[in-house]
Amino acid sequence: MGDAPDSGTPDLDAIKDQAIAAIHDARTTEDIRQVTAEVSGKKSPLAQASRRMGALDPDARRELGKQLHDVRSTIEALLDARRSEIAAEELATELAGSRIDLSEYIPGSIPAPAERGHLSLVSLTRDALEDVFVGMGFEVAEGPEIESDWYNFGALNIPPAHPARSMWDTFYLDLGAPESTMLRTHTSPVQIHLMEDAVAHDTLPIHAVMPGRCYRRDTPDARHLAVFHQIEGLVVDRGISFADLAGTIEVFTTAYFGPDIHSRLRPAYFPFTEPSAEYEVTCTICHGEGCRTCSQTGWIELGGCGMLDPAVFAAVGIDPEEWSGFAFGFGIDRCAQMRHQIADMRALNENDLRFLRQF
Ligand code: DAH
Repeated sequence: MGDAPDSGTPDLDAIKDQAIAAIHDARTTEDIRQVTAEVSGKKSPLAQASRRMGALDPDARRELGKQLHDVRSTIEALLDARRSEIAAEELATELAGSRIDLSEYIPGSIPAPAERGHLSLVSLTRDALEDVFVGMGFEVAEGPEIESDWYNFGALNIPPAHPARSMWDTFYLDLGAPESTMLRTHTSPVQIHLMEDAVAHDTLPIHAVMPGRCYRRDTPDARHLAVFHQIEGLVVDRGISFADLAGTIEVFTTAYFGPDIHSRLRPAYFPFTEPSAEYEVTCTICHGEGCRTCSQTGWIELGGCGMLDPAVFAAVGIDPEEWSGFAFGFGIDRCAQMRHQIADMRALNENDLRFLRQF
């Protein structure tokens, strides 16, 4: 540093090199502040060199002024650049320390808003069925999915070893209770719960529907599922006749399926009703003409029904001389299948969005 002794002019190259080295070595905001003062402040070699200009002749002064200006500009630019670099480094260190994850602000990685789903077709069908029955004056009730032998079979007049049990084979659960427990095979046990309650609280008559999930040891196919849904109906009142049952079923059928779909009852056997009937509705595929789906009969079976058997009344302690009633039960999944003409019922459980989005 210093003057070039012979010419009397300062060694600007040396001043510049020293400044560049000092700027380069600065590591922190504090360093760069000090370096700025050293290389461009009032006491810097650059400032001292400018002060010399007054002693020079006009030509030499002009020449030195130009050179000083260039050196100063270079130094200022380097100072600015290093200052910004240091600021950026210090910010990055600070952010890393506070663990702010800025990556979520990267445009491409903002997750798409979640798609909104809707109720499954089974729930939609259950709700629609409930609405029809509520409109006819029924209440909606529910019962447990795990039942004892008594509720699933015994009280429904299906004693142990009765051949009808094989029709309703199920999954048994070992819950350590003295009586065997099982996943219910139909919603008929809810009839027993409702009648027991009504007797205990003296609240007869009963007009109720009971929807719910049922289980059977069945192999699924186009018209059966091992886990499926039924809706049960129960009326216990004075002077109830088979005509009330047939009328209720016909009103329900036209209300739910539409005015061209009708019902018919054909004699059948169920242990808990006497007489019993199978409940059939006009085939929704061919509208009664006869097709493959209905085996050319024009009718499709939906469920069972009948007048409450006196043995069931006896099981719950209702006097059959005073009260009479009817019951019915049919598949909710089967109703959905028929109303929406679903070829294979297993589609209800497959979670294929192309299927589910149609409803
Ligand atoms: N529980 C019967 C079944 O799952 C259906 C049924 C038949 C229900 C006759 C009833 C009835 O209430 O009276 O196959």
